[in-house]
Amino acid sequence: MKTYKVAVIAGDGIGPEVIDEGVKVLNKIAELDQHFEFDFTYFPWGCEYYSEHGKMMAEDGIEKLKEFDAIYLGAVGFPGVPDHISLWDLLLIIRKEFDQYVNIRPVKLLEGAHCPLSDVKREDIDMLFIRENTEGEYSGAGDWLFKGKENEVVLQNGVFSRKGTERIIRYAFETAKKQGRSLTSISKANALNYSMVFWDQVFEEVSEEYPEVETASYLVDAAAMLMITDPKRFEVVVTSNLFGDILTDVGAALAGGIGLAAGANVNPERKYPSMFEPVHGSAPDIAGQGIGNPLASIWSASQMLDHFGYEQYGKLIIDAIEQLLIEGQTLTPDMKGSASTSEVGDRLIEMITTNSRTVNV
Ligand SMILES: NC(=O)c1ccc[n+]([C@@H]2O[C@H](COP(=O)([O-])OP(=O)(O)OC[C@H]3O[C@@H](n4cnc5c(N)ncnc54)[C@H](O)[C@@H]3O)[C@@H](O)[C@H]2O)c1
Repeated sequence: MKTYKVAVIAGDGIGPEVIDEGVKVLNKIAELDQHFEFDFTYFPWGCEYYSEHGKMMAEDGIEKLKEFDAIYLGAVGFPGVPDHISLWDLLLIIRKEFDQYVNIRPVKLLEGAHCPLSDVKREDIDMLFIRENTEGEYSGAGDWLFKGKENEVVLQNGVFSRKGTERIIRYAFETAKKQGRSLTSISKANALNYSMVFWDQVFEEVSEEYPEVETASYLVDAAAMLMITDPKRFEVVVTSNLFGDILTDVGAALAGGIGLAAGANVNPERKYPSMFEPVHGSAPDIAGQGIGNPLASIWSASQMLDHFGYEQYGKLIIDAIEQLLIEGQTLTPDMKGSASTSEVGDRLIEMITTNSRTVNV
């Protein structure tokens, strides 16, 4: 029996509520398979921990996490703790320390999910965003000079290393090649005359190694428009940390809302654990009511299964989510339903169990 050790950082707000459902689904999959199991270890890190200890995670937190096969994260952030602290002192540290330089965010419109665009076919919205995840605009390099004085100056530097830029672009080409799909690069070389000129140059260079992959390249402003007016032109997409962050929220809006958007932070070399999380935040406005939509966190659990090599189970979960949306009976209020978080998880598990009888598990 193979055991996967998973560190759970449920975090703040609705984080623990939605993560519970993902854990339920993962345990059900393991039970159906019978050849592997999950060993979950919970870490109480987040804003509540910060209020008690003055830090978001334990001093040796990174050391502790190192020994796990994966990290499953809910959401961090809560009123009372500045967002830049909750983000930087937990989430971004993990991404950087574990060299999780690939952020994978599927933007796929499932049948039954609401799309705000008219005149688009479901199949037209099927993108895979590959976002650079450890440097770029979120490198944390900068300075705050003469704070509070009249001549105050802040500097926020974008850092694009040759190694960092090449490896994310190469990863995207490999993915596009494997999937037999086109690759679009999104940058902004007209205004960002160092970083993005460099990005485009590296994209060109790497593209020469992949003559079989059809490519396109857009400025980020045009890309934001085209995602709305002509989404089908985007298949696999590679972009920088900031642009990817923003555009995947546009993507989430196109593909059923933030309650369905999942993300994986991957260290492809598997030297360190990768981290799986819903894209949404801690939703303080609905925290504690048991109505947070767990589908994004369950989708990210399916990404964890893909990462462990169980793509058949990843697909089983996504198919069940689609079935749940089509059925339309057990949905949370953000999807115009009246079900609770756990009712959604329970219904999904029923579907997974039934469907598993007809697929090769
Ligand atoms: N990865 C993360 O941990 C992460 C990501 C984004 C924001 N945050 C943090 O979360 C806190 C709140 O941020 P925000 O309000 O900008 O974004 P948010 O995603 O938490 O909420 C935005 C809106 O979407 C709704 N929403 C989000 N997820 C939902 C779900 N699963 N089901 C139903 N409704 C859902 C919320 O109720 C809210 O109205 C902040 O502290 C922010 O820094 C954390």
